[in-house]
Amino acid sequence: MRDVHIVRHPLVQHKLTLMRQAERTTKGFRELLNEIGMLLCYEVTRDLPLEDVEIATPLTTMMAPKLAGKKLVFAPILRAGMGFVDSMLDLVPSARVAHIGLYRDPKTLQAVEYYFKAPPDVAERLVIVLDPMLATANSAVAAVDRLKERGCKDLRLVCLLAAPEGIERFHGVHPEVPIWTAAVDSHLNDHGYIVPGLGDAGDRMFGTK
Ligand code: PRP
Ligand code: URA
Repeated sequence: MRDVHIVRHPLVQHKLTLMRQAERTTKGFRELLNEIGMLLCYEVTRDLPLEDVEIATPLTTMMAPKLAGKKLVFAPILRAGMGFVDSMLDLVPSARVAHIGLYRDPKTLQAVEYYFKAPPDVAERLVIVLDPMLATANSAVAAVDRLKERGCKDLRLVCLLAAPEGIERFHGVHPEVPIWTAAVDSHLNDHGYIVPGLGDAGDRMFGTK
């Protein structure tokens, strides 16, 4: 399978360019991530199943389409994944949220888990994992490993920027999980940062550096 969907919508590409700029303020960076989150949500939910239900308009009754099945789950990887949650919940207000607390050890680049909380029936739902950065993919692989341990089978990954090395590694471990991203950059540097990239997404979102 190994699906990678690059979202080339002009609004996404324009906003991503603004986010990459080193002079962008914390406030501006956060607002742009929020706005791109809404556009990526539109793309990742494009094929959700619908079912016809009978409704009454002011004039008559009709069969009209509604989302079918159980409510989906957004699963942000903390911290930076939280930047997508508000706008995605604006579009899909009935979604559930699973929080996955991971940080990347700066020396080993391995993902270290510090928190995990998901709806009890998460295994029965479509789960959309959210993280702006797919660098080595250690974090995304660990998040999906954890969700699979809980029985999840229907998973998607949304990021903002991906490195070719990260895509390769992620699909090496989880080939059936499709990825949506706004761009695939050139490479990772020696510290595991995406080049040209946008720096440390969490620090830029929260003003911690
Ligand atoms: C960043 C980013 C991803 C991870 C990507 O998080 O938000 O979660 O790094 O890198 P990887 O693909 O090499 O795992 P970080 O660990 O810096 O934590 P933060 O979100 O709390 O800043
Ligand atoms: N995490 C980030 O926030 N940025 C990178 O470039 C790599 C990992």
